[in-house]
Amino acid sequence: MAAPSRLLIRGGRVVNDDFSQAADVLVEDGVVRALGRDLLPPGAAPSGLRVLDAAGKLVLPGGIDTHTHLQFPFMGSRSIDDFHQGTKAALAGGTTTIIDFAIPHKGSSLIEAFETWRSWADPKVCCDYSLHVGVTWWSDQVKEEMKILAQDKGVNSFKMFMAYKDLYMVRDVELYAAFSWCKEIGAIAQVHAENGDLIAEGAKKMLALGITGPEGHELCRPEAVEAEATLRAITIASAINCPLYIVHVMSKSAAKVIADARREGKVVYGEPIAACLGTDGTHYWNKEWHHAAHYVMGPPLRPDPSTPDFLMNLLANDDLTTTGTDNCTFNTCQKALGKDDFTKIPNGVNGLEDRMSVIWEKGVHSGKMDENRFVAVTSTNAAKIFNLYPRKGRIAVGSDADIVIWDPKATRTISAKTHHQAVNFNIFEGMVCHGVPLVTISRGKVVYEAGVFNVSAGDGKFIPRKPFAEYIYKRIKQRDQSHPPPILQTLPPQFPSCTWSSVPPDWLTYQRSQS
Ligand code: URP
Ligand code: ZN
Ligand code: ZN
Repeated sequence: MAAPSRLLIRGGRVVNDDFSQAADVLVEDGVVRALGRDLLPPGAAPSGLRVLDAAGKLVLPGGIDTHTHLQFPFMGSRSIDDFHQGTKAALAGGTTTIIDFAIPHKGSSLIEAFETWRSWADPKVCCDYSLHVGVTWWSDQVKEEMKILAQDKGVNSFKMFMAYKDLYMVRDVELYAAFSWCKEIGAIAQVHAENGDLIAEGAKKMLALGITGPEGHELCRPEAVEAEATLRAITIASAINCPLYIVHVMSKSAAKVIADARREGKVVYGEPIAACLGTDGTHYWNKEWHHAAHYVMGPPLRPDPSTPDFLMNLLANDDLTTTGTDNCTFNTCQKALGKDDFTKIPNGVNGLEDRMSVIWEKGVHSGKMDENRFVAVTSTNAAKIFNLYPRKGRIAVGSDADIVIWDPKATRTISAKTHHQAVNFNIFEGMVCHGVPLVTISRGKVVYEAGVFNVSAGDGKFIPRKPFAEYIYKRIKQRDQSHPPPILQTLPPQFPSCTWSSVPPDWLTYQRSQS
């Protein structure tokens, strides 16, 4: 029998980022059709309508994971969670949309990379997905392709790497060009903020000292390496009034740089990930090599155990804005590529399945944020920044019915033995989390319920995203109109009451000819 195309979620508390309300939700043809009290008289259930009882439960917009790398060919291997198993696991955790990265090698076509990732994802995805694209080199071709991707292919975010020297890293002059072009085409510039030169030198030093284990990975890239690059990227972006999104903010120092910049009014967003909110870098010193290696990612988790709490406080207070996972998983045998040299351990950790529960436990159950802020940081803010809103990120009439029935009181214990991901290790092993997704609905279909999936490979859809997201570009456009970017704002005192735009081009020549 075909699943009913209509659903009524009855008696729950509907939570959006701005307020919560006791309401039923009627879903039809994949979208929310009605929202309100007592949409159906008690007892009545017309045929073709399935009623889901949500009494005592929360009804949340499905999570949006802003940062995944499924089946990513990387560091001599390929991440083990593919678009099928990875997105299935996402649904089990309450995430209904992921944004993955298509990353071309230097000199290669961005459009080809985009099409390759689509050909991998389209037949396999179980939840909706979208793609960021990496800019790993710079040329007229790259510029042209970015424009085509933004205008015709539904890509409005581009990631530049300040690390992975010789592989993906770009220099400041290329960052400047790429940021400027992102602004021109209405995209959001994203950066992996770490100083790649310092990492390369640090790694040589560690290996020369005989430090070959996973702890060397963290030792050669301390917090300052992340904080310096974060400040440099913000400085370059704000010189041209370009909105900037810092992916995987892992340290207190980098987060402080972002918080300061936001307080100075800069249009910058920081994305901590489940890993750095839920665990820390003390694991790099674990006696078991394989245990330590499973935490290797870049930027690294920080050994300072107060880091997760600190980052969660900033997330709660809007200094940081969204959450992803950087889910890029490798099995122990893949991690073993770096058995004798930490620089060869494929970088990446899990998080896709557990992000929502980890953030509920450490953020909401701990009392740092309320249920509305939880929705903002796990879903709505991402939808706004990446221009998916209000189709995604909100429960409202007309929005996609991506919905999670969430039990805030139930608990579950995270374990690699019971998770749905392909990877054979879980960095949150043993963590008891309040906040359990009971039912996950993806575009109107119940795809996960009480531990059982009802979804097939290819059920998810690619979601194109238009450029010039209002949420970020309203301010940017207004600033450009009302005053030029900061680099052009301040004139030396010899130019009283002038702005650069009002200085006649021949003014200096004229003054000199008078003296
Ligand atoms: O360690 C990481 N982060 N692996 C994935 C690639 C990246 O830099 O995001
Ligand atoms: Zn990165
Ligand atoms: Zn990443």
